[in-house]
Amino acid sequence: MSGSNLKVGLVLAALLMLFFGTGIIANATPATQAGEYSSDDFTYESRCRQCHAIIYADWEGTMHFNAYLDPFYLEEVRIASEDTDGALDEFCSRCHTPIGVVSAEIPPIDGSGMSDIAKLGVQCDFCHVVSGSNGTGNAPFTVTPGDTKWGPFDDARGNYHESEYLELYTQSEYCGMCHQVINPVNGLVIDDTYSAWKESQYAEDEVVCQDCHMTEGITEFEANPGRAGSGAPKRDHISSHDIVGANTLIPPMFGADNVAEMAVERLQKATTMEVSAPDVAPTGDEVLIDVSITNSGAGHKIPTGVSEIREMWLELTVTDANGESIYNAGSLDADGNIIGANILYNNILADSEGDETKSFWLAESVLEDNRIGPKETVTEQHSFILPENVAYPLTVQSTLKYRSAPQDMIDHLLGEETDVPVVDMNEISMIIYDPSTPADERKQPEPDSTSTPGFGALTAAMVLGITMYILKRK
Ligand code: HEC
Ligand code: HEC
Ligand code: HEC
Ligand code: HEC
Ligand code: HEC
Repeated sequence: MSGSNLKVGLVLAALLMLFFGTGIIANATPATQAGEYSSDDFTYESRCRQCHAIIYADWEGTMHFNAYLDPFYLEEVRIASEDTDGALDEFCSRCHTPIGVVSAEIPPIDGSGMSDIAKLGVQCDFCHVVSGSNGTGNAPFTVTPGDTKWGPFDDARGNYHESEYLELYTQSEYCGMCHQVINPVNGLVIDDTYSAWKESQYAEDEVVCQDCHMTEGITEFEANPGRAGSGAPKRDHISSHDIVGANTLIPPMFGADNVAEMAVERLQKATTMEVSAPDVAPTGDEVLIDVSITNSGAGHKIPTGVSEIREMWLELTVTDANGESIYNAGSLDADGNIIGANILYNNILADSEGDETKSFWLAESVLEDNRIGPKETVTEQHSFILPENVAYPLTVQSTLKYRSAPQDMIDHLLGEETDVPVVDMNEISMIIYDPSTPADERKQPEPDSTSTPGFGALTAAMVLGITMYILKRK
């Protein structure tokens, strides 16, 4: 295709997707088009905050708040716009600044036409004027800004605005409007968070995005009794708006260290890990170490989202009693590059030439998808020959790592002073003894209490399970 044909094709495809969505649903409403409203039709979050102060504090600093101002996004969208001659400007912006698009303030992609409210990303008076949708994928939302706020209650009475119940708010399909990204030109699925959930046991069991992301439960629904606003009645459950995923890079740039801390906690609850290593090993022998990792807590693949950019990997090190390194896979070098990891758990995309690309707007196929599906277990095998002169005992350290992006990519886009935080998601250590050590002296470190819940934790989980059953979905 020539440049201009490509551009026409892109625009047509993007429009088709907006009109028809990508999934077929009952009660579909047509997606709101660019220019149907003005940004003056929307209300600033500072107004909502006057009565919904807790919800506001939750939302502030999250990736929804940052969805447009995120400097990583702004750099990438600038490059995507250049690469496609502006053809994807509206496409990208529709999720990252929905008010900017429906009020036709963007494009131009440099943001020069945008009002302040449009820059507030995915915000209160966007999310709560969603009055319907045309399915999931590529943001086929219908919005009706004005006096009515839509939400999960069928009996809400406010004195400032009208309230209306819409079941969509309690369903994964609400999130699935934006958390499912399909390349409008060639149909390649770039973000499969919604569809991976839909095909999982979680969907079968009716555990929705909101259960894990809008309650303190992290891996399951947990009731949070309270009031939705000042003067509002006490209810059995109010959803939290600190909707957090795994991003630890961007929130601190906006002063939201608390959001990054919540992301760390979430990452640390996402997996379980088992290491099998021999108790003893003679020098000169081949030592085999198996590590299995289970996605026990996430309702989609890990990583998910822009998973061609996210990185998860296992660092496995074996050191002897003198601290000498015997084996090392997956450590970082001085520049922050991962060296010798067995597997990088991510999604590798290829451009039209078949070459690997992280520029997902140019992607035409998937080269490899190494992510771990919901409830799936993968096993990595490591082996090495034990050298003659080691000092026993040996320590095996297995650590599952995650970062939002490769360091060199961020160096290139945002400058070398930005360190991408690396999160330890899970860790286990084991000891390998000299074969002459008597069996009763071969002690293994106590396993981490979080990976093997004791009796107390189990009872708490059962009680919680019952409460959850009672309160579950109105
Ligand atoms: C990403 C979209 C999104 C954003 C942004 C958002 N909300 Fe919500 N909100 C929801 C969803 C979805 C629910 C229902 C969750 C459920 O019940 O499972 C909800 C529930 C509510 C409720 C009902 C009470 C409760 O918490 O369950 C109120 C009130 C509310 N939101 C106000 C706000 C305010 C004020 C803001 C801005 C500070 C805001 N929301 C930002 C999606 C959003
Ligand atoms: C003057 C106080 C006040 C202001 C300002 C206010 N709200 Fe509300 N809102 C309430 C009260 C009270 C309720 C009822 C809560 C209940 O019944 O539990 C409510 C309920 C809601 C609900 C739940 C609706 C449903 O049926 O589930 C949403 C969503 C909501 N507000 C969003 C907003 C948004 C967005 C803004 C800013 C544009 C806003 N509110 C501004 C007082 C206010
Ligand atoms: C069973 C609980 C659970 C459900 C259901 C769930 N999530 Fe998650 N989600 C998690 C956990 C735990 C993490 C952190 C691990 C990770 O990054 O995948 C996470 C991470 C994420 C991330 C950040 C991903 C990354 O790796 O950068 C996004 C985005 C997300 N979830 C969106 C969703 C959406 C949208 C849905 C519904 C379609 C959903 N989640 C359903 C538990 C859940
Ligand atoms: C209007 C589109 C839109 C809707 C609707 C939406 N999101 Fe998002 N969400 C985004 C965008 C855009 C980002 C990422 C912003 C960025 O990274 O720059 C995001 C970020 C997130 C993150 C943070 C990911 C991370 O890596 O930390 C989570 C978690 C998340 N959304 C969950 C949800 C859930 C759960 C719902 C439904 C209740 C939902 N979203 C509804 C557009 C949306
Ligand atoms: C259908 C909605 C949608 C569209 C269209 C979309 N995005 Fe996103 N984008 C998201 C969501 C949701 C996330 C968060 C997923 C995650 O946490 O990994 C995200 C995350 C990102 C991130 C990662 C930001 C960070 O801080 O880690 C970048 C960069 C990005 N998008 C750029 C783009 C560009 C460029 C385009 C157009 C080519 C685009 N997006 C189109 C929904 C969308």
